[in-house]
Amino acid sequence: MMAPRRARGRARLAVLASGGGSNLQALLDHLCARGAARAADVVVVVSDRAGAGALERARASGVAAEVVPPRQIGALLEEQRIDLVALAGYLRFIPDEVTARFRGRMVNVHPSLLPAFGGEGMYGARVHEAVIAAGVSITGATVHFVDTEYDAGPIIAQWPVPVLEGDSAATLGARVLRVEHALFPRIVDAIAGGRVALNEAGRVEPRPFGAGHSAFAIADTPETSLVADLAGLFDRSRAV
Ligand code: GRF
Repeated sequence: MMAPRRARGRARLAVLASGGGSNLQALLDHLCARGAARAADVVVVVSDRAGAGALERARASGVAAEVVPPRQIGALLEEQRIDLVALAGYLRFIPDEVTARFRGRMVNVHPSLLPAFGGEGMYGARVHEAVIAAGVSITGATVHFVDTEYDAGPIIAQWPVPVLEGDSAATLGARVLRVEHALFPRIVDAIAGGRVALNEAGRVEPRPFGAGHSAFAIADTPETSLVADLAGLFDRSRAV
C-alpha cells in the first residue's frame, strides 16, 4: 500500500491549479467542515498562471499561494515536505520524475467518465463539447491517480451525470462540476487518511465505496438518483 506519509497526524497536501479553482474551494470547504476529523491540510496552492483564481482562493483561506513553472514543482513539493498532491484543473504536464516520486500520492479530477473523453488537449469546455457531439446520454466525473500519461492513471472513483436534451457545454459542464465538488474532496480525504490506496500491482484498494461498487460511486444525490432509479424509471415509462 502506498498511503501518504503522515507527518504530525495529518497529510500535508499541495493543490495544483491553473484556473478558477472551484475544486480547490470545494476541497478547502470540505476539509474545514470535517474539522479535527480531516486527514489532510492544504499547505500550499501552486499555479503556472499568476492570474489564476485559485491563488486568490488560497490567500483568502490563509493558504500559501505560489506561481512556479512545472520544472520547479518537484523542488517545491520537496521543500514543503508534501505527502499528497491534488491536481484541481492543472493544465500543464508534470515532469515524469515528480509523477513517479508521487506514485499513489497524486490525484486528478477529470470532467468525464474516463477513459472516454480524456487525453491531451481534452480539458474544460472541449470535453463537454465532445460529449455532446458524440451523442452519449451519460457522462460524469472521474478521480484517478496520476500517471505519466494524461488522464490514464488508475481510476479511483467515478460518478455519472446525465446529458440532457438541449445541453450546451456550459450547462453540462456546470452539472458535472457539481459532482466534481462532491466527489473530489471526499476521495482526497480518503487517500490522505489511508482509507484508499494504490497497491503494488497498480490497483486501487480498498475501493472507496466498497468492493461491490467497483470504481463506480452511487450515493443519494440528485445527480445519481436517475441512475439509482433506473429500473423504476424504465418500468414506469415502459420505454423498452
Ligand atoms: C474541472 O472541470 C476539472 O475536472 C478539470 O478542470 C476543471 C477545473 O475547474 N480538470 P476549477 O478550476 O476547479 O473550477
